[in-house]
Amino acid sequence: MLSYRHSYHAGNHADVLKHIVLTLCIDALKEKDKPFLYLDTHSGAGRYLLQGEHAEKTGEYLTGINRIWQRDDIPKLLSSYLTVLQRYNPFERLKYYPGSPLIAKQLLREQDRLNLTELHPTDYPLLRQEFSKDRRATVLREDGFAQLKSKLPPLSRRGIILIDPSYEIKEDYQKIPQAIQAAYKRFATGTYLIWYPVVSRKQTDRMINEIINLGIRRISQYELAIKPDNDQKGMTASGMIVINPPWKLHEQMQTIMPWLKDQLDVESTGNITVKQLVAE
Ligand SMILES: C[S@@+](CC[C@H](N)C(=O)[O-])C[C@H]1O[C@@H](n2cnc3c(N)ncnc32)[C@H](O)[C@@H]1O
Repeated sequence: MLSYRHSYHAGNHADVLKHIVLTLCIDALKEKDKPFLYLDTHSGAGRYLLQGEHAEKTGEYLTGINRIWQRDDIPKLLSSYLTVLQRYNPFERLKYYPGSPLIAKQLLREQDRLNLTELHPTDYPLLRQEFSKDRRATVLREDGFAQLKSKLPPLSRRGIILIDPSYEIKEDYQKIPQAIQAAYKRFATGTYLIWYPVVSRKQTDRMINEIINLGIRRISQYELAIKPDNDQKGMTASGMIVINPPWKLHEQMQTIMPWLKDQLDVESTGNITVKQLVAE
């Protein structure tokens, strides 16, 4: 039974970091004309109403996207991310937050393809509706982890794979390293983006160490903590593990992360990590 709904969390600090990394990777793959596949294993609903009951209840976007989207010192590197936000918010006030599938929908080209999966009975039809006229996209109510076997490697031999579970089911922490291993065997040149929360540092570290020990080269980590680690309930930090990052990504994140921390770590008790976990 899935109870997690991303609509309570859309646009929070974790989404901002995740989607910045995603847009930079999409920008990088678009530098060549050759098509690529965007595979999103845990897609969510696609579009989130920020003035809706769910987002208002948590107010998480207020300390996330709302803090940055109208600043006048936004690094140029964020221009694709901002273009998508503006596309869904042509007015003064932030109304919608576009999730990962809609970000890809806006940034991908005619020749590219999207494979999106979502299991939630309410979110799946919403996602499907968003793509009803988009011939580039396949939208399925299927297990996202299974797609890593059935849809890889892509015909184009180029791809971005976003693995973004809610970790509502604790087995996700164990499933991810296994799923990456299986996917990487099929498609070793893909760019894999794995989102993770820090609720229990021990649990997160265990998963990251398992990924490091898979024997895969070229792995980077970008993490933003807005609080120090603690034993209480709730997420203190989140991050992205990137396998086969585009060559400019690390340098780009070195520029962006300190700026992002300044905007989002309101109490100045957090931290950033910009690290190569496994080198070339
Ligand atoms: C964190 S949200 C995704 C957010 C989205 N990627 C974004 O960035 O906008 C995780 C989603 O995964 C869905 N989900 C959970 N288990 C799944 C599975 N095995 N396969 C596909 N979707 C799943 C949940 O219903 C939830 O909507």
